[in-house]
Amino acid sequence: MNHLTGINHLSDDDIRSILVRAKNHADILRKGEKVERTLKRKNIITMFFENSTRTRLSFEMAANRLGVNVINWDAEHSSMKKNETFLDTVLTVGAMNPDAVIVRHSEYEAPVFMANRMRCSVINAGDSWREHPTQALLDAMTILEAKGTIEGLTITICGDVAHSRVAASNFLLLSRLGAKLRVIAPDFLMPHKWTVAGIETFTHMDEGLPGSDIIMMLRNQKERMNAAFIPDDITFHRQYGLTRERLDLAGKKALVMHPGPINRNVEIADDVADDPERSLILNQVSNGVPLRMAVLEHCIQGHAA
Ligand code: NCD
Repeated sequence: MNHLTGINHLSDDDIRSILVRAKNHADILRKGEKVERTLKRKNIITMFFENSTRTRLSFEMAANRLGVNVINWDAEHSSMKKNETFLDTVLTVGAMNPDAVIVRHSEYEAPVFMANRMRCSVINAGDSWREHPTQALLDAMTILEAKGTIEGLTITICGDVAHSRVAASNFLLLSRLGAKLRVIAPDFLMPHKWTVAGIETFTHMDEGLPGSDIIMMLRNQKERMNAAFIPDDITFHRQYGLTRERLDLAGKKALVMHPGPINRNVEIADDVADDPERSLILNQVSNGVPLRMAVLEHCIQGHAA
């Protein structure tokens, strides 16, 4: 059975085949051709304990395209509101024998806990600040599409890196794919521990940006920290916001990414976020669908085999 709770669940071959398959799906979707319903009559349950727009919708779109039945479990209207525990909820959902469960949770390793207690595939759609593997995979797909390669690129991740599961999964994935990684963050948003070696760190945008091929901006994830440490939005933007001037500093070919949701004119200026030449933000969203189609196939077909 294939779970996907973190990037290191995947072998190099798994990563390669998911990215190839995702590109194939993307080409078919772009041409408006019919997608083969490779997962017809499979059933998945989405369990989002935290808010989501793009991750949840793109998993649903991906599942629908492949012929999967999707059922949304809704935390607000669930029996957890009648004091049912998380464990009993997990055992109850598992007893209905879905083919896969997609989970987002504020607790560290909640998907790992579930994977140990369910017989279906468990796919992590983001847990605490630990991992968000499908976001990292769609980011890698987007970079490959824009730059043709990841090997040797300088990829700079900026802002609230300490609380970002997106950054955490990207460190693991992009370093395996041969990128040179940089981080730019104020001390209070800089991680204390690193899961991969060789990341260059900077506390000033002007020092870390020059020579970057990709600049990945992050939202200040105030729900995961004591927000009192963060300066007001205007001050943060002045110090760490990606403005046109700072983008120019990075170089003429530097491209901008952001997993969303964006906070306009906090971590990223309007004109940078909306620049069709330099911003890949909506490409990331579009790629979420074919990438998650490939992940569902990887997990569910592996499960059926
Ligand atoms: C991110 C998340 O939820 O981890 N968004 C996403 O899935 N695209 C980032 C965030 O919330 O800032």
